[in-house]
Amino acid sequence: MILSIESSCDDSAVAITKINTCELILHKKISQELEHSIYGGVVPELASRLHATALPKILNSCKPYFKQLKAVAVTSTPGLAITLVEGVMMAKAISIALNIPIISVNHLKGHIYSLFIRKSSQFPLTVLLVSGGHTQVIEAKNLIDMKVVAKSMDDSFGESFDKVAKMMGLGYPGGVKIEKLAQNGDVKRYNFTVPLHQSPLISFSYSGLKNAVRLAILNAKKEDYKDIAASFEHIAVKHLTQKLKKYFKSNPPIKFAIVGGASANFYLRKEIKKILTPYNCTLLLADLEYCSDNAAMIGRIAVDMYHLKMFTNLEDVAVASRSKL
Ligand code: KG4
Ligand code: ZN
Repeated sequence: MILSIESSCDDSAVAITKINTCELILHKKISQELEHSIYGGVVPELASRLHATALPKILNSCKPYFKQLKAVAVTSTPGLAITLVEGVMMAKAISIALNIPIISVNHLKGHIYSLFIRKSSQFPLTVLLVSGGHTQVIEAKNLIDMKVVAKSMDDSFGESFDKVAKMMGLGYPGGVKIEKLAQNGDVKRYNFTVPLHQSPLISFSYSGLKNAVRLAILNAKKEDYKDIAASFEHIAVKHLTQKLKKYFKSNPPIKFAIVGGASANFYLRKEIKKILTPYNCTLLLADLEYCSDNAAMIGRIAVDMYHLKMFTNLEDVAVASRSKL
């Protein structure tokens, strides 16, 4: 079995995965949403301190499996350095105490493996990664060969939902709150411009849309918020589908996946399904409970890394807030 740890942002999570069958034996997660909610976003120092108490608490429930562990996996990049280090220190301590190797995991690749929890992996894949920190299109040939082919020039898709929610005083995280509010709103009421609409670039940008929404909120009453949320969500998604449609013209998708915390958004899922219909393409989605940050996806990628003996020397396991795939 592999014990995996995730602490790249505001979720403390630990999982145990069977190496031979990919079976998920245990998954425990303590989210810090409530603690950060009053600040309208994640406060890194606070997150780090909360990990320091939550991770050992969860680890206690893994004790019965300690003797069966063959490796410990941990997210080491990208994320908040001050929170990543909490997981990495725990992984190092476990590695020394149990004399097992460390598997150092890239969080973004981990999100891709959220598709394969309890299943075998499938490649090649074209992936749309939409999270709080990233908006990327990735061509994933296999575990090792993954290339970012499009990304955001500023804010990410999920972050823009968080910021709009903050401006409306809805707290953090904003994705689910905006999605819920938008359900009863009029998508056509506010005529926000689709970002980079005229540009030939296959890139994303959310800062302009966020500013347009800010101005709309300034001039709106509370009862208008649902229409602002609906119009914003509609344009935020339209931006993704417009750019993807353009990308598909020269790169027709065969297997397409949406991963990351914001992949739980139903409107996004519905609109992506529509643009895939002209292609004979399979759409892969993770179970809703594994879209947001979790340790099950880290454990699942670690199984494939274990088979390839992708271990990192104890002294070389280091955190990095930014990283390449
Ligand atoms: O993957 P994730 O848990 O953390 C990062 O790696 O960043 O993603 C969290 C992000 C947050 O910005 C959150 O607001 C967004 O995903 N999110 C959503 C939805 N659920 C979560 N955004 C839009 N619609 C949702 N339903
Ligand atoms: Zn994430």
